[in-house]
Amino acid sequence: MSGVSDGEREVLLGLARDVLGKAYARYSGFRVGAAILTEAGNFFVGCNVENASYGLTICAERAAICAGVAVEGEGLRLRGVAVVNERGVACSPCGACRQVLFEFGKDAVVFFLGKDGVEERLVSEFLPAGFELRDGC
Ligand code: THU
Repeated sequence: MSGVSDGEREVLLGLARDVLGKAYARYSGFRVGAAILTEAGNFFVGCNVENASYGLTICAERAAICAGVAVEGEGLRLRGVAVVNERGVACSPCGACRQVLFEFGKDAVVFFLGKDGVEERLVSEFLPAGFELRDGC
C-alpha cells in the first residue's frame, strides 16, 4: 500500500511513457522516461539527455526532479515516481538517481519495470541509509 492512488499511478506511468519520444539517447539508444508526482499535487516529466562526453549524461529521473524544482522551488517533496524505457526491459533507477530521489522524498514510491512488469518500491528501500547533510557531518 503506497501513498499513491491507482489513478495517480496510471497517470505517472502514462506521462513517463509519453515523454520517451523526447529522449536524447543518441549514444546508447536506450530511451528512458520518468514522471514525478509532488506533495503539492503537480506532475513533472523528464527524459534522459546524453552527451558526447558520456559521463555528462542526465538520467530521466533527475531531469524530472530538476523540472519540478524549477517550478516548485526548494520545497518540492516527492510522493511518487515512475520510470519506464522504450524497450520495456527491467530497469530500476541508477545509484545517482536513488540519492537524488532520497533528497526529495525517502518515503516516496517508485514504479519501475522489473522482470515481470511494473513493480513498486520505496525510495528508502532502494537506498537504505542514504546520505543526508546534517549538523555534525
Ligand atoms: N538511464 C536513465 O535515464 N535512468 C535510469 O534509471 C537508468 C539509465 C539512462 C542513462 C543513459 O542515457 C541510458 O539510460 C543508458 O544508460
